[in-house]
Amino acid sequence: MLVTQIRPLMRGAEVIGTDISPRQPPWVPPNCVFHIEDAQLEWTYALESFDFIHIRGLYGSIGSWEKLYCQTYDALRPGGWIESTEISILVQSDAQAVRNDPDHIFWRWAKVLWEGADRMGKTLRIADDGEMPRLIGDGGFVDVREIRYKVPIGFSSRDPTENEIGKYNLEFMLESLEGFALFILKEIMGWKYDDIQEFVTQMHTAICNPKLRPYYYMRVRLLQRKRCNN
Ligand SMILES: C[S@@+](CC[C@H](N)C(=O)[O-])C[C@H]1O[C@@H](n2cnc3c(N)ncnc32)[C@H](O)[C@@H]1O
Repeated sequence: MLVTQIRPLMRGAEVIGTDISPRQPPWVPPNCVFHIEDAQLEWTYALESFDFIHIRGLYGSIGSWEKLYCQTYDALRPGGWIESTEISILVQSDAQAVRNDPDHIFWRWAKVLWEGADRMGKTLRIADDGEMPRLIGDGGFVDVREIRYKVPIGFSSRDPTENEIGKYNLEFMLESLEGFALFILKEIMGWKYDDIQEFVTQMHTAICNPKLRPYYYMRVRLLQRKRCNN
């Protein structure tokens, strides 16, 4: 998605989108191309050949974030930027019913999926506090910035923009929850299918409860590689 969005911002740029599966949209601007690549393998791109590398939504897919970030750094031109954007799987609420209950479905959901992903060796904690800085490091960068967005789920705000985001995000969550949980809970944690359905239903019900005003955090870390003369 970003590949086609970034193109109007950077006229004349050559934009390459990569994914392990062929997921490109039906129409692609002429200066955008898609390559099927496994980001975990040795990169085939020349060293110091990109001005900007954006990574998004690889939570739960990567065995070594250190290696991924290292290869990203090597592929950047001096002075170029990395942008890494990931979301936390911990759904939160400021309601006392959630904050004071460590067994609330929001907590149980995150804990069991964190554990399953850890067992697979592909962390789901990459957007949580301290993880990106620990794994990217800040050696070799002149400018390091981080932005944490609170992303609402559902209609729970007086702000129309937040409600618009929340509306789409709720749809995204409702469509994704089962697929997201099924592999980890069944294949890694050994749960029965009926128990997974019950668990997913509890999560559906909770995120649809506007009184909880649920949200999660999305973290964006931006780093600029040193120029040659820095
Ligand atoms: C949550 S989606 C994010 C899609 C897109 N990056 C975005 O933010 O809109 C995760 C994507 O990562 C891709 N993926 C998973 N493992 C990968 C890997 N090792 N190398 C490249 N892409 C991978 C999946 O095929 C899937 O399209």
